[in-house]
Amino acid sequence: MTELSPVLKQATPVHVDHGAGCYLYDTDGRRYLDFTAGIGVTSTGHCHPTVVAAAQAQVASLIHGQYTTVLHRPLLELTERLGTVLPEGLDALFFANSGSEAVEAALRLVRQATGRPNVVVFHGGFHGRTVAAATMTTSGTRFSAGFSPLMSGVHVAPFPTAFRYGWSEEEATDFALRELDYLLATLTSPAETAAFLVEPVLGEGGYIPGNTRFFQGLRERADRHGILLVFDEIQTGFGRTGKFFGHQHFDVRPDVITIAKGLASGFPLSGIAASRELMAKAWPGSQGGTYGGNAVACAAAVATLQVIEAEGLVDNAAVRGAQLRGGVESLATKAIGDVRGLGLLVGAEFTTPTGEPDTATATAAQQAAVDKGLLLLTCGAHMNVVRMIPPLIVTETQVEDALAIWSEVLAQL
Ligand SMILES: Cc1ncc(COP(=O)(O)O)c(C=O)c1O
Repeated sequence: MTELSPVLKQATPVHVDHGAGCYLYDTDGRRYLDFTAGIGVTSTGHCHPTVVAAAQAQVASLIHGQYTTVLHRPLLELTERLGTVLPEGLDALFFANSGSEAVEAALRLVRQATGRPNVVVFHGGFHGRTVAAATMTTSGTRFSAGFSPLMSGVHVAPFPTAFRYGWSEEEATDFALRELDYLLATLTSPAETAAFLVEPVLGEGGYIPGNTRFFQGLRERADRHGILLVFDEIQTGFGRTGKFFGHQHFDVRPDVITIAKGLASGFPLSGIAASRELMAKAWPGSQGGTYGGNAVACAAAVATLQVIEAEGLVDNAAVRGAQLRGGVESLATKAIGDVRGLGLLVGAEFTTPTGEPDTATATAAQQAAVDKGLLLLTCGAHMNVVRMIPPLIVTETQVEDALAIWSEVLAQL
């Protein structure tokens, strides 16, 4: 009998039968409030009727029209519709399938456009599992250990992770920018640095938002040295943080963004957006792929964008995010050292009485929540941060229900 790879680690024992809105139902009919959203993917909820109808209609008319062979309507519609939500100046798109592929496409673009070999990434960032993406991932050694040699040309600068350093946000930001300057003076000359690649909020790395001074500091250095600024918006895009894209909290202009996850409500679709001028500097033939811009995925993405707009999901993420974070903060016990997040991306970091990462208690909390019908995940280098990422359609009552379960969980730890 064949089986799934034994290396795959299941975060919950749930065998899902179907999903609807913010709920998943297991094969015994038990209902779970899903605050994982397929790791930040099903932002419109499971099987939103508008997305389902669009995908079903598309399946019956064209499933795959390889997009460098033929053009198709969903791809063109999506490209046009994204133009209404993308940051100003980013008016050219390249589509792929997974987040990792989008990150690699961004890397290829910045290297080809600048002719420079190196990139600077920020400690705690997660950018994917393919070799280049894994090399640029510094949120845990499990993503890059054991398959060296990795890619060359990657340098790691600090992210302002104030809680970990035990500093104020100001101190952490001063440190991070100072160390970036030192890195540019000692390890990677600006003349050899193609880009800074950064998440607006460290995702896998522990749900740690950056801040305005930090990102503006990156922008200023990028401008000064002709370095490109790439925001990895794969987890933070499409309303997740309470603004359409995460970087928009920080009044900073990106040169490139990567997109995936919330873009297509669960269909595999990713991409990069840049200015036409910059995108044109990618070398001929360097962009393509068999499945990128799949017709059904594009139709689902168009429907997703319609739902986000029609149902006011960006605002809902801001309002429900404030409710969720406020609730998690007010329930925090001594086991929780820090609560943080942006919009519907909320993390609670478990620490021991001496302030060390407490993986065991975080895992126990996450598992206890699952037992009580609330699906959660952990993240962070030590997997000691419980993260909450509900669909953006989550209601006030569903947030209250989740908080009630979370309160029971904390009481029994
Ligand atoms: C910020 C970020 N970048 C890249 C990725 C990689 O995406 P994928 O798993 O689709 O390759 C992820 C996935 O979690 C992510 O959160």
